[in-house]
Amino acid sequence: MGRKLLLENDHIEGIRKLDVYRKHGGYSSLEKALKTMTPEQVVEEVKASGLRGRGGAGFPTGMKWSFIAKPAGVPRYVVCNADESEPGTFKDRYLMERIPHLLIEGMIASSFALGARTSFIYIRGEYFYVARILEQAIAEAYEAGLLGKNIMNSGFDHDCYVQVGAGAYICGEETALIESLEGKRGNPRIKPPFPAVAGLYGCPTVVNNVETIAAVVPIIKDGGAAYASIGVGKSTGTKLISASGHINKPGVYEIELGVPVEEFIYSEQYCGGIRNGKKLKAVVAGGSSVPILPADLILKTAAGESRLMTYESLADGGFASGTMLGSGGFIVMDEDTSIVKNLWNFTRFYHHESCGQCSPCREGTGWMEKILHKILDGNGTLADVDLLWDIQSKIEGKTICPLGDAASWPVASAIRHFRSEFEEYVRNGKSIKDVKHYFRLHQVAEA
Ligand SMILES: Cc1cc2nc3c(=O)[nH]c(=O)nc-3n(C[C@H](O)[C@H](O)[C@H](O)COP(=O)(O)O)c2cc1C
Repeated sequence: MGRKLLLENDHIEGIRKLDVYRKHGGYSSLEKALKTMTPEQVVEEVKASGLRGRGGAGFPTGMKWSFIAKPAGVPRYVVCNADESEPGTFKDRYLMERIPHLLIEGMIASSFALGARTSFIYIRGEYFYVARILEQAIAEAYEAGLLGKNIMNSGFDHDCYVQVGAGAYICGEETALIESLEGKRGNPRIKPPFPAVAGLYGCPTVVNNVETIAAVVPIIKDGGAAYASIGVGKSTGTKLISASGHINKPGVYEIELGVPVEEFIYSEQYCGGIRNGKKLKAVVAGGSSVPILPADLILKTAAGESRLMTYESLADGGFASGTMLGSGGFIVMDEDTSIVKNLWNFTRFYHHESCGQCSPCREGTGWMEKILHKILDGNGTLADVDLLWDIQSKIEGKTICPLGDAASWPVASAIRHFRSEFEEYVRNGKSIKDVKHYFRLHQVAEA
């Protein structure tokens, strides 16, 4: 356990620079692909690897790539989703900041596989300094003949551009991202058609997460079968986890999929246990959108089996007792955490970030935020808790994009597993401690 495929060299001084990156094997996968493989063979290796999209949904990457339409004379595009706005997720930033050439090598190799002459890295506005790092790396790659015309004398031409967004969570949804890249307001499109058929400028487009594209580099290097030999079942390879909250060692960890959740939280290799010797109360395992689980259910499934860091094990039990790996934003909460306050914070985020196209999301997120505010203020009733449940159930599955689901799942799971906390606020009103904390949050929200 503990092999690293993406962050193996992240500690090496100067690894951001092209010469150091190349000294440690950088761009050898690209060379292998361009000089010894056909584009179809690269796609086959990605299929064989079992790699699943690391942006949240976990869709098989090779399958997505094989859907790309190939009408004659029509350009194809590869777009890297570096919008990373999901609360609790910061692994893409780490990867781009530390080893920008890993992403760029992955972009060129993926574009070769998909027959794309042009690619874009769409990065959130708040990461402007990371955009500069990427632009410097791209400039180095052009100078070394790794981008531009006839790359490594292979006959393959490719240009890669960085586009900075304005810092909107919705622009992480792939069709909203494409709209934004086209210079329009980032509203999600109705699907079908899917981007693989009609994406950027109406042309076939593949949108993949930063980590997904970076993973193509080790897959080409060692082969899809070697990648698939790591992990458990359909959760193959390694995964970057953004670990935050009340743990001793927050940070970005590359894990082999299949590490037990308990080991991830308590071992010195990873999170190093709960801060100040407190007890574990709850975990949001895959970024703010996924269902929150109480300590007993995150460590063990309802059937009493050890919960593993895999897509399947985390989802075991469905939403009744399971959750999702999502984007790997692992937020740990200790015994002193107020689930209701945390939920209000998340809900406020989704209300702010809703694009407003669909009424259930536009109206529902604001309504849920107001009810949670009322409950936290000590003015809630038991009927408000039922109303909250009712509203979230009327958002889920009823919107153009999954932002609606992302807003409703945290509410549903918090009520499902922690209903007594909501009722306690209703019965006892707010405590003095809560008032101080709450109003500090409230002032921040108003400012
Ligand atoms: C509201 C919303 C925000 C999203 N934000 C991101 C994001 O920041 N990064 C990302 O890679 N995927 C994000 N996604 C998922 C993308 O729509 C898409 O599934 C993903 O980029 C596909 O890449 P993958 O297959 O490599 O995971 C978001 C989805 C939704 C609904």
